[in-house]
Amino acid sequence: MEKQIVGVANSKGGTGKSTIAIHLACCALETGVNVSLVDTDAQGSVKDWANVRPDSMETPNVVCNNDPYSIHVTIERLEDELIVVDSPAGLSEITGEVLGLSDLVLVPIMPSVLDLWGVGEFERVLEEQAQEGLEVVLVTSKYDHASTLSEELAEYLSEEYPEYSHLEYGICDRVAYKRQMGQGQTVLEGNDARAKNEVRRLYHDINDLLHE
Ligand SMILES: Nc1ncnc2c1ncn2[C@@H]1O[C@H](COP(=O)(O)OP(=O)(O)OP(=O)(O)O)[C@@H](O)[C@H]1O
Ligand SMILES: [Mg+2]
Repeated sequence: MEKQIVGVANSKGGTGKSTIAIHLACCALETGVNVSLVDTDAQGSVKDWANVRPDSMETPNVVCNNDPYSIHVTIERLEDELIVVDSPAGLSEITGEVLGLSDLVLVPIMPSVLDLWGVGEFERVLEEQAQEGLEVVLVTSKYDHASTLSEELAEYLSEEYPEYSHLEYGICDRVAYKRQMGQGQTVLEGNDARAKNEVRRLYHDINDLLHE
C-alpha cells in the first residue's frame, strides 16, 4: 500500500493541531493501519503525550524532528502506511517543509473571528502548496456543540475558500480531550461516546479524501 502523509497545520496557536494529530494516528492504529506520528514542534506536545502513555496501550511510532533541513529524510525513511505530522504554531521553515511533504494537510480552525485574523501569511503558503498539488482540508476545532458558531464558520469558510475541502463535521470542545491527553491517552480509551464517534468520523472522512 502506498504511504500517505497527512500534515496538521495552522499558524495560529492552540487550535487543536496536536490533539487532532494524536487522535488521527490512534484512530488509524485501531483499524489495523501501521502509523507513524511525527512531532516537528520544539514544544514537543506529541513527545510529552507519548512519554506518559501507559505501556499497556498500543502506541503509534512516535518520531521527533524539528529540523527543517532533515525532516524530509526522516519522513522519507518511514515505511508505515500512514504518517501523521504535527507542526508548530507560527510560520517557521519547518511548517513550509511539512506542507511540501504532505499529501493532505488538515487545518483545524476554531470558530472565533480572532482565529481567522492574522493568518494571512499562512494562507499564502497554503495557496502556493495547493497549487503544487497539496490537498487542503479545513476542519472546525474546539467548537461548542450548543452554539451555531460552527455552522456560521463553515458557511464563511466555504465562501471564502471554495478551492479547499471542508469537513462537514469537526471536533467539539470537550473535557474528555483535556482529561485523556493529560494521561497519555486519547478519547478512544475514555468513556465519552460522542468524542469517540467524532474522532472516528474525522479519521474516516480524511481516509475517504486520501483514497478518492
Ligand atoms: N476538542 C478539544 N476540546 C477541549 N480541549 C481541547 C480540544 N482540542 C484541544 N484542546 C485543548 O486545547 C489546548 C491546545 O490544544 P493543542 O495543544 O492540541 O493545540 P495546538 O494547535 O497543537 O497548540 P500549539 O499551537 O501550541 O501547538 C490544550 O490544552 C488541549 O488540551
Ligand atoms: Mg501543538
